[in-house]
Amino acid sequence: TSHLIYTPNNSSYATLIQIENQRPAATFPEKPLLIFTPFYEHQIRLAIHCSKKLGVEIRLRSGGHDYEGLSSASEVTFMVVDLRNLRAVKIASNEKTAWVQAGATLGQLYHTLAQKSRTLAFTAGVCPTVGVGGHISGGGYGMMSRKHSLAADNIVDARVMNSDGQILNRRSMGEDLFWAIRGGGGTSFGIVLAFKVNLVTVPETLTVFNVTRTSEQNATQLVHRWQYIADKVDENLLLRLFLRSVTSPVTGNRTVIASFTTLYLGGVQDLLPLMKQQFPELGLVEKDCTEMSWIESVLFFAGLQNKPLDVLLETAPPSRQYFKGKSDYVQEPIPLDGLQGIWRFMHEEDEMGSRLELSPYGGVLNSFSESETPFPHRSGNIFIIEYGVYWHSSKGNNEEQGDQKHIKWMRRLYSYMATYVSKNPRAAYINYRDLDLGMNNNSAGNTTTCYEQARVWGMKYFKNNFQRLVRVKTKVDPTNFFRNEQSIPPYAAISVYSS
Ligand code: FDA
Repeated sequence: TSHLIYTPNNSSYATLIQIENQRPAATFPEKPLLIFTPFYEHQIRLAIHCSKKLGVEIRLRSGGHDYEGLSSASEVTFMVVDLRNLRAVKIASNEKTAWVQAGATLGQLYHTLAQKSRTLAFTAGVCPTVGVGGHISGGGYGMMSRKHSLAADNIVDARVMNSDGQILNRRSMGEDLFWAIRGGGGTSFGIVLAFKVNLVTVPETLTVFNVTRTSEQNATQLVHRWQYIADKVDENLLLRLFLRSVTSPVTGNRTVIASFTTLYLGGVQDLLPLMKQQFPELGLVEKDCTEMSWIESVLFFAGLQNKPLDVLLETAPPSRQYFKGKSDYVQEPIPLDGLQGIWRFMHEEDEMGSRLELSPYGGVLNSFSESETPFPHRSGNIFIIEYGVYWHSSKGNNEEQGDQKHIKWMRRLYSYMATYVSKNPRAAYINYRDLDLGMNNNSAGNTTTCYEQARVWGMKYFKNNFQRLVRVKTKVDPTNFFRNEQSIPPYAAISVYSS
């Protein structure tokens, strides 16, 4: 982008509002009045000034990967501050830290690290086009999280602009706000301009594998067994599990494919005995495994193996795909008949339409107390399930109906899962944002917030940290300038609703 401000009359406007997921754009017909694409931090003040002057809410966009599109779509009149041009990455190898601007993507951060060293890395998500601003402020789980925790747990400083246009750092923002932006989600507290993060040291050689098994190859028993070891194995080992439903070329019937997608922070000769001891049922053999550098593993898990490194610098291609996601935390292994019930649901959806991602916890994630950061999902969790359903919208009159079919399917699966997952609250991960959990009100073109209403989803995302997030919000943004459909409300809203 070469301009600072775009209006709907500008030819690049349509490209700028494109986001990962097409569904929110279809659900929320309202398009931004203006899009600001600042090149310098101080230019953001212009957007804040405009928003106040026009009485139009601001939405913040870094990588545009919000599951509900809240960075570029809304029911109310809004403008967007798009940070794509604020994407510098500065690495201090000597102190093993990096300053990363919010508009950088994870791919860009990983790419810059790889230019510096083979053993310097960062712990964050797998998808290279995800943005730093949204991802890190909501947590940020990746293939090294059992060893090095979440991206947010590695923040050591930050630059945040408040609603007065002041730029704060860790010292000037104070520990309350610094706590809130390490897992409390983007949007509610200010505009994150940059994070300073701790880097981690990884071995020169790591090992990856992606072993797949169908139902006919014992997938159900393996998934069942996996639940007993996934959070307990050596913390250098992270076995992520992807589940899809396809038609078997052998039987012609639908079958579940379980992919055990794994990173081991070490060589294959150490991995094999470990797997034999901790998960012999998988039958892992040496030829399933590949040794590589950390950055090659980044490409491997992003499905970009053997591509040149520069592929990590690409932004997300335009997509026609519609997507709905939800999440759940599992604290007791799901019994075999429970798993079979999930398979039945998956077979009902279009082939490859549903994708479940089971990501193990345990390891160093357990060493944080629930209140150390706003991200409360620590010990007691075996794994998180991310439910995803993908489709291409059927054009024409039935578009709405077709979309509803997939969304309803997901809600039915979610209701089936209630027995098997965390309760009181039924916890969820803010970075897998789900508006089914509740929304702030929209009235007279504005988002109005209410403590009691927000508490419903707030407790799911943050457990008891929700109350502290509300206190911080009340202190740092009492006028509720930074808000969206699922932002944290200030206390002031209580008096409105309780009187
Ligand atoms: P986006 O720009 O849409 O922002 C997300 C939210 O944060 C919005 O509400 C936005 O307003 C707010 N925000 C953005 N920038 C801000 C800023 N600078 N200051 C304040 N608020 C800001 N997660 C994970 O933990 N591990 C993973 O491996 C993956 N993988 C993955 C793959 C794919 C394909 C998708 C679509 C998503 C994931 N995620 C994930 C989830 C991801 O972490 C989540 O969607 C992040 O919020 C995306 O951050 P972006 O900056 O890209 O989104």
